[in-house]
Amino acid sequence: MTKTPEEQLREMKKTSEGWEDFEKVLKKVQIPCEVLPLSKEKPIILNSGTVLDDLFGGGLSAGQTVELYGEFASGKTQILFTMIVEAASKGLVIIVDAEDTFSRKRIVQIATARGKDIDVINSNILLYKPDRWEQQVSIPPNLPDPLPGKLKLVVIDSLMALFRSTPEFAGRSNLGKRQELIRWHLRQFKKIAKKEGAIIVYTNQVYDDPVSNPFLPKWACQHPVGGHSVAHIGDYRIFLRKARGNVRIARLVDNSEIPPAERVFQINERGIDDLSNEQREEAIKKEEKYEKQQEAGEFVKKRKKKEEELTPIEEGE
Ligand code: GTP
Ligand code: MG
Repeated sequence: MTKTPEEQLREMKKTSEGWEDFEKVLKKVQIPCEVLPLSKEKPIILNSGTVLDDLFGGGLSAGQTVELYGEFASGKTQILFTMIVEAASKGLVIIVDAEDTFSRKRIVQIATARGKDIDVINSNILLYKPDRWEQQVSIPPNLPDPLPGKLKLVVIDSLMALFRSTPEFAGRSNLGKRQELIRWHLRQFKKIAKKEGAIIVYTNQVYDDPVSNPFLPKWACQHPVGGHSVAHIGDYRIFLRKARGNVRIARLVDNSEIPPAERVFQINERGIDDLSNEQREEAIKKEEKYEKQQEAGEFVKKRKKKEEELTPIEEGE
């Protein structure tokens, strides 16, 4: 069997062949190249049908990924449920429920409140429930071919849970192997989503930065797990934080096309939903007041600690 130029290159590198031969083979490698990168043709713009679309600068394109991260009850799963209802009303949705939190009851509630046809949604969902990382990474290669519908959305809740809970990847020495697998796993989904015209939305857990300054805003103190390699895969990274009651705030933290922005929303029977202008203003005011109180509290605590450190402890008389 004749070898592809890529295969020849790989072998040459191993045996350190001369540079001239190397160059000859390089010329045979075919590289994808777009002749008109700034084509006037309008790209197909996808949206999620939720209030978070305001953060996507007009829409997403096929194969793009959105990462939702935030502490427990910050609304990650509720956002996914709402996106699932919207997308499954129009086409196929692939769900990777790695945390076993998928709720049919909640989907039905959101669909009813949004006036969607539950039978259509039901017939458009492929629900996978992996309970080990091996099963999770096996999902893209094992998808039905062709897919039983026009794919609109892939959701993964959450991306890292099964990788974090397994002893194989414990310790720093195994980190590289784990990150490589996660990147590969997402790339598989990205390829499918790009080809089919769908987007990928996944959730991620957070850790509190132990060296962060208490005066910094919350989004600067909590980071998504998975380190730099996961940070580089996402096209849109959205940090979620709790405000009062059922109000939540989504912050677009990282995107290569648009600057950081925030969007306030609430969780209700429609899944995630908008607030009226008055409610929104009130929520923002309350949030600002709360943040100030928190900062003041932290400041007092810090000053007290410093005073204690400076005051010599008197020996009991
Ligand atoms: P973890 O998976 O634990 O990391 O959290 P998460 O960010 O996925 O949280 P989730 O999206 O499940 O949000 C949970 C929050 O949504 C809780 O505060 C619930 O009270 C709220 N919630 C869930 N269902 C409803 C509902 O039907 N109505 C209202 N108003 N709130 C709801
Ligand atoms: Mg969740």
